[in-house]
Amino acid sequence: MNQRFDDDMERMLFTPEEIDHTVHRLAGEILTQYLDKPLTIISVLTGSLLFISDLIRLLPIRLHLDFIGTSSYGDNTTSSGTITITRQLRLGVKERHVLVVDDILDTGQTLSQVVDIVRALHPADVKTCVLLDKPSRRTVDIKPDFRGFAIPDLFVVGYGLDYAEQYRNLPYIAVLKESVYRS
Ligand code: IMP
Ligand code: MG
Repeated sequence: MNQRFDDDMERMLFTPEEIDHTVHRLAGEILTQYLDKPLTIISVLTGSLLFISDLIRLLPIRLHLDFIGTSSYGDNTTSSGTITITRQLRLGVKERHVLVVDDILDTGQTLSQVVDIVRALHPADVKTCVLLDKPSRRTVDIKPDFRGFAIPDLFVVGYGLDYAEQYRNLPYIAVLKESVYRS
């Protein structure tokens, strides 16, 4: 079977250039905030993988990088509500300023639960950064401190975001054809 996935996309939502521009803007905002603070970045796996690797290259400051693994989705496109921790944090964050980075803020369940986990470790401060935000889908009261793009209620893939573990390696962000997840 041909494994090319080009025909699965309905349309491109953000080009590689638009993503790059936005990641640069976010890096500038983050740099200003943490220039004089001990920063620990916590990347929420797996979706934030491409975002975090581009973002940290634009931050010329001493920082710690840690990962937390979460999963809330089955093979469908709506969040299940409860998240499972699939990879624990390894670094201590006591008295450090923590920035939790995720690919997308949807219902808010994932990020708010990760923030609660981090708060329990007594950091100096916890802030959040997401590349994409779907404010209309929120079920938990949470707003990102740093936000790339606000988008309507669309299911998107690429640049780390998946549908059933596929399309994370797409260099742009796209809307998937409905026929792909309805079939
Ligand atoms: P939340 O817990 O509902 O805020 O969902 C956050 C997680 O769901 C993100 O970390 C993503 O992994 C996933 N997610 C939410 N919306 C999308 C989407 O449009 N495409 C791919 N993954 C999504
Ligand atoms: Mg995710």
